Amino acid sequence: MGLLAVIGGSGFQRLGGLEVVSTEQPETPFGPVSAPLVRGELAGRSVLFLARHGAGHRLAPHRVNYRANLWALRACGARQVVGLAAVGGITAAYGPRVFALPDQIIDYTYAREHTFHDGESHPVHHVDFTEPYCAQLRGALRAACELAGVPATPTATYGATQGPRLETAAEIVRMERDGCDLVGMTGMPEAVLARELDLNYASLAFVVNWAAGKGEGAITMAEIEGHLAYCTGQVERILAALAAAS
Ligand code: HPA
Repeated sequence: MGLLAVIGGSGFQRLGGLEVVSTEQPETPFGPVSAPLVRGELAGRSVLFLARHGAGHRLAPHRVNYRANLWALRACGARQVVGLAAVGGITAAYGPRVFALPDQIIDYTYAREHTFHDGESHPVHHVDFTEPYCAQLRGALRAACELAGVPATPTATYGATQGPRLETAAEIVRMERDGCDLVGMTGMPEAVLARELDLNYASLAFVVNWAAGKGEGAITMAEIEGHLAYCTGQVERILAALAAAS
């Protein structure tokens, strides 16, 4: 299966349960990684962890150096990557605290370094992205959710927005019309860069708020943080089950 890496987003500056062995700050041709890579043991398996937003959550979603992060993970031996994703829920089945394993993406981001194949560092190449996530890793995550006793919806379409602001109600109506179930700010270009590097990548998404216009009134940080705190423990259980099973 190869070395497992976890990219932690909001709520995951560190990974609970990971017994840290070492930290590494690899050089990359694309500049610095978000944070030192943490190598450790999770449920008896060697795992790499990277905090996507850096120490103290200092990097906004559009400022994350996704190319350096994915490159460094691969250079340090990762072959499977789970991207954690705290998201807003758009469609009715994806309310707060719902876990989901997205199977599709619609990308609304712009002006991010979104490819290795730009004709400079790598030749131009049009990578297949019909199925943006690794089916095998999604299957393993689904089994891990079952083992951990956390119900998870096995499919969802993830809409990636630019942020850091949240969306308008009209933008969410449009995204729903497009077919999005979830909205988040970091799923792209992370997923496509993983594909370009031939990494097996999947997302473990958990809903921390109703998307704009879908709940009552404005979205508050207190609401998001409350749901995030609830989801953190479940995520750690799922990842421990994933590590133990592989
Ligand atoms: N929109 C975009 N990204 C998010 C949201 C949201 O409502 N919630 C968590 N990440």
